[in-house]
Amino acid sequence: MNTQADATPDRRAALWSGRFADKPDEAAVQFETSIYADERLAFDDIAGSKAHAAMLGSAGIIPQAEADALVGALAAIEAELRAGTLALDPGAEDIHSFVENELTARLGDTGRKLHTGRSRNDQIALDERLYLRRAVPEFQRKLLALIGTLAGIAEAHTGTLLPGYTHLQHAQPVTLAHHLCAWAWMLVRDHGRFSDALARISLSPLGAGALAGTTLPLDREAVAAALGFAGVTPNSLDAVADRDYCVELAAGFSLVMAHLSRFCEEIILWSTEEFGFVALSEKWSTGSSIMPQKKNPDFAELIRGRTGRVYGDLLALLTMLKGLPLSYNRDLQEDKASLFDAYDTAASSVSVFAEMLKTAEWNAGRMAASCAGGYANATDVAEYLVRKGVPFRTAHAVSARLVRYAIEKKCAIEALTLAELRQHSELFAGDIFAQLESRACVEARSLAGGPAECQTRTQIRDLKAFCAARGVR
Ligand code: ARG
Repeated sequence: MNTQADATPDRRAALWSGRFADKPDEAAVQFETSIYADERLAFDDIAGSKAHAAMLGSAGIIPQAEADALVGALAAIEAELRAGTLALDPGAEDIHSFVENELTARLGDTGRKLHTGRSRNDQIALDERLYLRRAVPEFQRKLLALIGTLAGIAEAHTGTLLPGYTHLQHAQPVTLAHHLCAWAWMLVRDHGRFSDALARISLSPLGAGALAGTTLPLDREAVAAALGFAGVTPNSLDAVADRDYCVELAAGFSLVMAHLSRFCEEIILWSTEEFGFVALSEKWSTGSSIMPQKKNPDFAELIRGRTGRVYGDLLALLTMLKGLPLSYNRDLQEDKASLFDAYDTAASSVSVFAEMLKTAEWNAGRMAASCAGGYANATDVAEYLVRKGVPFRTAHAVSARLVRYAIEKKCAIEALTLAELRQHSELFAGDIFAQLESRACVEARSLAGGPAECQTRTQIRDLKAFCAARGVR
């Protein structure tokens, strides 16, 4: 029963009057609206509607003059939204009904023709795909900028020794450049994941209608071409029902965050008194409200912490889809909050991380000192013997005994005398000592992908070429 006792207009009535006698409670409107999540889709929604309206005209489904009027009014709405002279209606159910209401208020019956052969179900799928085609490359550019930053820092540190770790124990010496390039290659793969997802996203769902297409002779290909899509989605149910692209992207953002979070953990460790490998700039550090001396790596910690949020977004999307029967279900509206949060969190993390690194100072002396004097060259001792014909397992045992001997003497392997070395193997000669210096250990590892300067330079060149080929220098 429509009592309509209060003066609030039923915003819904303009679009689908007839079926409902009662208007919804304000609480119901508030609960179901997606208008604020949709806000960032507004211009994509209008772009989709313009293409749809133009096609309705050229396909002869509505008179050309009315199609032109629709396109003109949509352009006006767009301009007013951009100028801030038109505001979103918080009571609108979503961006689609907001725009359609606006059109009808301006054009009357012509406005009521926009939705011919279309449903909000294919419309939202279209809006998301249009938005992602813009936003994902924007995110990828941020990744490229970070890759470029890493390559730039690496270039200045191809000779900067750094202990390489496994299990967070000294393993073998590497260089800071090699280490930074490792992170850069992970980001290169992240970049590729987004390109892969984009190829699948770039199909137009318009024409799928609510779920089963339409009896009207829409020209799906023309709309797809006008909007720059590679083609049209092959199945109408699939087109309105799946959000696998949201999951793929959230997984992509999750991996970016996983990479950044691990890198942040290193930055946090490395900026401690104990490591002292890096000092973050004051700009990208925070103080303590009680301890005057503190300079905390809060930005790295926040990125590490926000990684959990992005994983949560991924899980929310997967759970939203789980068990949903075909085709569209309103559950799918929840995709936007998770997808946009994952996007925003990852995008700001990538940008902040790049700035934090650009202004960080690396302490080459501390890193080199940390390489020397330990046993990070023990593998080199074994490989020295291998080059003299000793089976590797035997050489490993000789080197292990030498390490034990040196630990007992509280010195490095290279601090032992040749006579002491020869007590362990007659094959040691005077040339061993030069080979045990950290720099020599690094330079001797010159296979493709190794830390030797020549190989690192190749990596840096390739990383830079990857960025340059995509327009980022
Ligand atoms: N706000 C909706 C969403 O994001 C748009 C589609 C609404 N469709 C419907 N049948 N209620 O999914």
